[in-house]
Amino acid sequence: MSNLWGDSLSGFWSVWIIVISLGTIGLSAWFLLSNRHTDKQPDADGNVATTGHAADGIEEYDNALPKWWFQLFVGTVIFALGYLVLYPGLGNFQGVLGWSQESQWEQEVAQAEERFAPIFEKYQEVPIPELAKDDDAMQVAERIFLNNCAVCHGSNATGGYGFPNLTDDDWLYGSEPKDIVATITNGRNGLMPSWQQLGEDNIENLTQYVLSLSAEDHDEARAEKGESTFMSVCAACHGPDATGNQALGAPNLTDDVWLYLKPGQSISDSIRQTLHNGRNGHMPSQAAYIGEERVHLVAAYIYSLRYND
Ligand code: HEC
Ligand code: HEC
Repeated sequence: MSNLWGDSLSGFWSVWIIVISLGTIGLSAWFLLSNRHTDKQPDADGNVATTGHAADGIEEYDNALPKWWFQLFVGTVIFALGYLVLYPGLGNFQGVLGWSQESQWEQEVAQAEERFAPIFEKYQEVPIPELAKDDDAMQVAERIFLNNCAVCHGSNATGGYGFPNLTDDDWLYGSEPKDIVATITNGRNGLMPSWQQLGEDNIENLTQYVLSLSAEDHDEARAEKGESTFMSVCAACHGPDATGNQALGAPNLTDDVWLYLKPGQSISDSIRQTLHNGRNGHMPSQAAYIGEERVHLVAAYIYSLRYND
């Protein structure tokens, strides 16, 4: 504790704050003591002095403060002074305890790391499919999920518009442990270009073709025209059978799972919108935030959602 005085404020402002703080406390104490009036008691007839203030015929008695009330005030003054000696509050004076928000936070994080490090290390050795069956591990992993992933994927991992459901059988990037780890570690970028340049008619034909792939209601004649366009421009990514490509994150278009379907929106409108504007789903890399060991654990959690019943 070599330096109780930080250097965040310039000398003048530090002194200014100290003067104002101590001055206010001193003023409060003076005001309290000078108005104590312990001598003011009711006279022989039980009459008491008034302050001279009156409103609607009601006069204000000039009685002494109740004793406990007075002591409470004195207590707050002592507390304020004690606090300012121990903790930062007076300008650049850091307080004799050397406490700071940052150091408290760092200390808590360090303590948590120390406590959890051996547990994480142990789990790191366990293969993901096995780890996914370990209830204790999955409880820790669920916390990691809720803290880091639920903002986007939802607290029950069922996703939402633009955020994939992680509890179903449909995977953009694969469900093998190594795929899930790669997704979480490095993040993912799904890129579906806009097809505006194909023109309205072609977009409608393609929309009807995509609808036909998942057996939705569609216009047969248009779907047939759309099929040839699909083979020439879409199959490269989604595959000739339209079941997708996990290396690119191109979704399977033959199932009834839609990444981009707003509540209340029709599937055909969603497809048209995708073709007009393109899509660019972005999953940020998590490794830098949570570290390899938590990635391993939370990957097992994702795995468990799918494979444990
Ligand atoms: C900022 C939002 C965001 C956060 C935070 C986030 N994700 Fe994602 N995640 C996405 C998006 C968006 C996608 C889909 C990317 C795409 O469309 O290509 C995705 C995709 C995934 C996938 C691939 C799903 C599939 O079908 O292949 C997995 C697995 C996943 N996230 C797990 C996680 C986990 C675990 C965490 C927390 C450690 C996490 N995500 C945090 C937005 C997020
Ligand atoms: C360059 C590769 C690529 C090409 C070419 C491509 N797509 Fe895509 N498509 C993707 C990717 C990747 C996604 C997922 C985007 C995301 O994750 O944000 C996607 C998403 C979609 C979706 C949204 C699916 C959903 O679940 O909401 C539809 C529909 C679609 N594509 C249809 C088509 C059609 C029709 C064509 C041809 C005109 C086409 N795509 C061409 C890569 C491609």
